[in-house]
Amino acid sequence: MTQKLPEGRETVGETPRTGPGKIHRTALRGRFAQVEEPADPADTQPGAAGARAGSGQEATYEKRDGIMELADSVVLVTGGAGGLGEAVVRTVSEAGAAVIIADLADERAEKLAAELGPRARYVRTDVTDEASVARAVEAAGDLGVLRHAVVAHGGFGVAHRVVGKDGKPAPLDGFTRTVDLYLTGSYNVLRLAGAAIAGSAPDEDGQRGAVVMTSSIAAYEGQIGQIAYAAAKAGVVGMTLVAARDLGPVGVRVVSVAPGTMRTPIMESVGEKALAAFAVNIPNPRRLGRPQEFAALVRHILENPYLNGETIRLDGAQRFAPK
Ligand SMILES: NC(=O)c1ccc[n+]([C@@H]2O[C@H](COP(=O)([O-])OP(=O)(O)OC[C@H]3O[C@@H](n4cnc5c(N)ncnc54)[C@H](O)[C@@H]3O)[C@@H](O)[C@H]2O)c1
Repeated sequence: MTQKLPEGRETVGETPRTGPGKIHRTALRGRFAQVEEPADPADTQPGAAGARAGSGQEATYEKRDGIMELADSVVLVTGGAGGLGEAVVRTVSEAGAAVIIADLADERAEKLAAELGPRARYVRTDVTDEASVARAVEAAGDLGVLRHAVVAHGGFGVAHRVVGKDGKPAPLDGFTRTVDLYLTGSYNVLRLAGAAIAGSAPDEDGQRGAVVMTSSIAAYEGQIGQIAYAAAKAGVVGMTLVAARDLGPVGVRVVSVAPGTMRTPIMESVGEKALAAFAVNIPNPRRLGRPQEFAALVRHILENPYLNGETIRLDGAQRFAPK
């Protein structure tokens, strides 16, 4: 049994509409390229760029058996006070990194920063605003060397069928706002944090750090009504390889994670009965994902220098049905 999604309803976060759940937090889901800059032959290999930018600079962080240590790094986490973001903040903080919690939720973010101590700082940040993200990136420099950015913000979603049952086309505004937050906001962080990371000293492998973005399995199998969210999340998937290629010469990796249904606090608000209904459609483990599992994957991505240009599903083999 499924429940119809009210047209035009604003939703938050990500809930599959498969199964008997009564709640409809919908899973919030080109072709042209002109390279303006002349290609620099020295930019064709990360090692070459590393050597070039590294002349006179020492590698500033250690590798353990090829693994990039987080201990001497600063990690900027957008949505760092949210369900998935907080788990990342805690995980990288436990690994010894300093962390910028870039969010808009003052109370939760300040509490988290206070709990984690002086190596964690909340910087009120709107990912859709250029100056705001630039300030967060600058603040990272006060804590040390920015090596990594994890894009894990979220917020709202707008549920519309392309053409409603009344025959009217979906409003454009909801689509553009959703794309602005989830896709343009991700790109804004990618470019500004990417430039800052590119300015740091590389390690002996020409590596400087990584940007991890959060997509969704809705990028691949968006449900009815999720067109805006699915488009935005598919855009994140699409950016991943291009960005990895663009940033390869400066030794910055780009990887995305596409979670299925994760048990974040906002999800828990739907109640145990609804959560159990969602879990029925997740093959194995037959439960929602844990934020800690997302954070563990993100940590591994940051630490493993050979992961690049890929979007990794984290979903217990879940595949969204049409509704
Ligand atoms: N939870 C899931 O099941 C799930 C599944 C797939 C993908 N995702 C994606 O993961 C991301 C995080 O999801 P979540 O469940 O942790 O969400 P959440 O709502 O718990 O956290 C999102 C955080 O982002 C912050 N935020 C909102 N607008 C912002 C802005 N303009 N600038 C900076 N921060 C802003 C919010 O204050 C909040 O703290 C989202 O992109 C979501 O689409 C979540």
